[in-house]
Amino acid sequence: MSTIESVLNETRIFPPSTEFSSHANLPSMDAYQTLCTQAQDDYLGFWKKQAEENLVWHKPFTQVLDESNLPFFKWFDDGELNISFNCLDRHLDTQPDKIAIIFEADDGQIIHSTYRDLHRRVCQFANGLKSLNIKKGDCVIIYMPMRIEAVVAMQACARIGAIHSVVFGGFSAKSLHERINDAGAVAVITADEQVRGGKNNHLKATVDEAILMEGTGSIKSVIIYQRTGNDIAFNAARDIWWHELVKDISTDCEPEWINAEHPLFTLYTSGSTGKPKGVQHSSAGYLLGTMVSMKWIFDYQPNDVFWCTADVGWITGHSYVAYGPLAMGATQVIFEGIPTYPDAGRFWKIIQDHKVTTFYTAPTAIRSLIKLGPNLPEQYDLSSLRLLGSVGEPINPEAWIWYYKKVGQSRCPIVDTWWQTETGCHMIAPAPGAVPLKPGSCTFPLPGIFAAIVDEAGQDVENGKGGFLVIKRPFPSQIRTLWGDPERFKKTYFPKDIGQGKYYLAGDSAYRDKDGYFWIMGRVDDVLNVSGHRLGTMEIESALAANPLVAEAAVVGKPHEIKGESVVAFVVLKGALPSGKEAIQIVDELRRWVVKEIGPIAKPEEIRFGENLPKTRSGKTMRRLLRTLARNEEITQDISTLENPAILEQLKQAIK
Ligand code: WTA
Repeated sequence: MSTIESVLNETRIFPPSTEFSSHANLPSMDAYQTLCTQAQDDYLGFWKKQAEENLVWHKPFTQVLDESNLPFFKWFDDGELNISFNCLDRHLDTQPDKIAIIFEADDGQIIHSTYRDLHRRVCQFANGLKSLNIKKGDCVIIYMPMRIEAVVAMQACARIGAIHSVVFGGFSAKSLHERINDAGAVAVITADEQVRGGKNNHLKATVDEAILMEGTGSIKSVIIYQRTGNDIAFNAARDIWWHELVKDISTDCEPEWINAEHPLFTLYTSGSTGKPKGVQHSSAGYLLGTMVSMKWIFDYQPNDVFWCTADVGWITGHSYVAYGPLAMGATQVIFEGIPTYPDAGRFWKIIQDHKVTTFYTAPTAIRSLIKLGPNLPEQYDLSSLRLLGSVGEPINPEAWIWYYKKVGQSRCPIVDTWWQTETGCHMIAPAPGAVPLKPGSCTFPLPGIFAAIVDEAGQDVENGKGGFLVIKRPFPSQIRTLWGDPERFKKTYFPKDIGQGKYYLAGDSAYRDKDGYFWIMGRVDDVLNVSGHRLGTMEIESALAANPLVAEAAVVGKPHEIKGESVVAFVVLKGALPSGKEAIQIVDELRRWVVKEIGPIAKPEEIRFGENLPKTRSGKTMRRLLRTLARNEEITQDISTLENPAILEQLKQAIK
């Protein structure tokens, strides 16, 4: 733990304004602490009350938490409900004509969908899925553009009890193929093309390529939403257009009542091995987490216009686009495009045009917008905003201050929300009407979340000392297992040595300052955070090693001004060490290769060659050393255990 030292020393504090607090769901530290104390004193009673108040149950539960088979926790297990009913039907009597989604296309075209309309679309599409014989428990892959239809597809799966697995539209055919196979999916829902920043991306062609790869036998149907109408290959035995599937089909679809623990979805994310893992979430506990965080952290108010910019391919787009806002009955914006098209004012224009009140985005987007147009927000009317949010990585204090002053006009609190694919909803984040903010800190855990920082033996460390971030008690929205790999689930998240298999181990290091504020320091495993997205170093290494030219590869991260972290690969080729033009050509080829194998997000920023990699005498690659080399820093660490010190000179050379 000696390597973990608290590095930040931020002293600015921003208390909530009286104006904000007076209308907030949690209006004071007292209100926040009262909830925390209730959870502390009567943990099960606390979550029972939340589950009863927030969710609509078809059959009430009688047991709150079943801990008989640790760490396979079950929440509200004998209760029955339907997630789509909880997001749509529940609003039909009270607010059928409220706008659920304001959709803005890449080219600026706008479509509004009310709760009644969205319900109708979901029911029709759910009936369509049923007509293809897709049933409760079947797995369906969703590979879609950011449009209303993506949400309809997810909600329709939930309605019939099918388990969806959304794959981000930027992933390659190979990545899609792996996920289809691991999930054993029976259908893929996709579009002919995706349009972002004025460019078309051929989703259907990628699906075809993924299915044609060896061993994708499970897919029976491919449903295609027509986005652009450009020509695509059509396989009549398997493919069906979305609009034909729902033509003349009933708009009534009785929801499938499912058990609280029925898997709502799996979502693949990177870990420290070469293979992404399918994080499996429950139904009731998951939705409850999204709802309480909408209330406590996003301070949801009925008049809000909520906008989370995340794609539904990531957990943020699940919890704060497809589920949380709908369960709350909110009006939300969904945007198909990218922040910089047609120019770097696009986000600000959308906020202005749709009178967005709550804006949630990632530090990497903020940093790139600062770079492209530091004063652009001033050209737009951003007076509708009342709350800002950040997610994906620690937000550096400079970006925080800019976001606060230029976008929030020094009026809007910023909720820096720490959470993960595995936690389903915010875990550590400020209740904005209560908690004074410190730029760069995600502040305090949500009520009912027992986050702590511990050492290797699972003992609490004192404030000011770094350690492993854990959550000591089970919580409703947590990961239930890894799809098809319960052993890996147990080992990764509930290790025996830290907390005797009872603590949820997040994989991040963190510390608390003298006031108890949490500061996240980064991953402790071999997971990189590039533009707020998780990438396993092993995953990229295996991709590189699969190239016929490559003998061995090691991947590390290095700090990057906009992306937060960028990928640097050290490669040993099968042939001779290349130089000059040849080296540049191989670099290009390997970068293209990684894009093909995984997707553009994993593309190495830099590749360096050596005749071998720095190894210890026992044959372990010395990653710490590679990180130092990648940063072009002086080597100060002990290299006495290094088998081959001469290699360092080679690996210092960047290819130019
Ligand atoms: C990092 C995204 C600091 C962290 C919701 C975590 C953060 C990983 C923050 C999860 C934050 C996310 N401050 N670090 N506010 N939010 N992280 O699964 O390392 O894509 O473990 O979930 O992102 O990334 P994931």
